[in-house]
Amino acid sequence: MGEVIGTYYYRPKAGVDFKWAAQAIAEEQTTGTWTDISTTQEYVRYLDGRVHEVVPYNDGYITKVGFADDIFEPGSIPQYLSVVSGNLYGLSKLAKVRLLDLDFTEATTAPFKGPQFGIEGIRKIVGTDKSRRPHVGTIIKPKVGLNPKDTAQVSYEAAIGGVDLIKDDETLTDQKFCPMADRLPAVMEQLDRVKDDTGRTVLYAINVSAPGDKILERAEEAIDLGANMLMVDFVVCGIDAVRVLAEDSSIQLPLHVHRTMHAAMTREPEHGVAMRAFCRLIRMAGGDQLHTGTISGKMDHDTAELLGDNKALTDPNYFGLKDVFPVASGGLAPGGVAREIEVLGKDIILQAGGGIHGHPNGTRAGATAMRQAVDAAMQGTTLEEYAKDHAELAAALEKWGTFA
Ligand code: 3PG
Repeated sequence: MGEVIGTYYYRPKAGVDFKWAAQAIAEEQTTGTWTDISTTQEYVRYLDGRVHEVVPYNDGYITKVGFADDIFEPGSIPQYLSVVSGNLYGLSKLAKVRLLDLDFTEATTAPFKGPQFGIEGIRKIVGTDKSRRPHVGTIIKPKVGLNPKDTAQVSYEAAIGGVDLIKDDETLTDQKFCPMADRLPAVMEQLDRVKDDTGRTVLYAINVSAPGDKILERAEEAIDLGANMLMVDFVVCGIDAVRVLAEDSSIQLPLHVHRTMHAAMTREPEHGVAMRAFCRLIRMAGGDQLHTGTISGKMDHDTAELLGDNKALTDPNYFGLKDVFPVASGGLAPGGVAREIEVLGKDIILQAGGGIHGHPNGTRAGATAMRQAVDAAMQGTTLEEYAKDHAELAAALEKWGTFA
């Protein structure tokens, strides 16, 4: 039988034996508890968690714990999480504990279909399967408050300016100031105009994050209204919401996965859940695009972790599942594009909200500046050099500077 391996960092409290602490994690998450019990039978033992190694790391230790395949209910992400990422965080003898990564097995990944489109499928829709350039996306700003007409107008400006993807912000769903039933057709009408004028397909990720019993209904409504992409927030809705949307046979649209609230779990280097574990699960669940972070943006990041996260999404060999397009978003501007591409590569979606709508000459110029920055990087030219005869990029660099 296979074993799922959970890799954990932990730091025991003073006076607590480090080997005991690793064993405590393994037992709490499998067949044990805080004391020995009289109800255990010999036949249960095969489900015991196994501590494979413990190595010192920084102020604590890293341990690898094995979980027998049979402890998992096949295909149940909530149950998988309860095993590998459950009570352990609260154990009082541990000062800190962080789930760093998960190595799944054939048996535990087999029930999942993974992304419907993956990077290649999305590139084909957008028409970048030959150029292989990074995609440029935008988030409509202000994140809430615009009415449907103005949202559509901003979308048109961004699309005609050159973006490949427009998305709702995480707090925009179906509020009365901008109901989905009005917003979505209005935006799609503008994107159709852009298609007629330029031949380019621009995706619009409509946020269908909703109460659990309404997500599918919301997605189906969006499809009826002409959506060409859906978006869901995986932390607040639950990872399984991604799976439900990706696996529903009536939904044949790419899925953009946002991660609002993730940093409550992922940011602390000593405690919580590293983004890596979520990347593995989102790939299994079927997200086509996932936010993982930027090099130059406004959100805190660790470059080594980010590179590993993107690799987890794009590794060609992951149980036969398609890859996931990593999204770099949060405080991005044209001046950061060269660095983002240099570090993160070309299979990346570079998404800018403020960095497009805050352009001195407006949204259209902002979108064009982002595209020019990508073109510069693709041609191996510096942003400053390219800006000499690209006015939109020049204005953006003048306002926000270049990320060194
Ligand atoms: C996101 O969804 O990633 C943020 O809303 C990004 O917005 P910003 O580009 O203005 O930081």
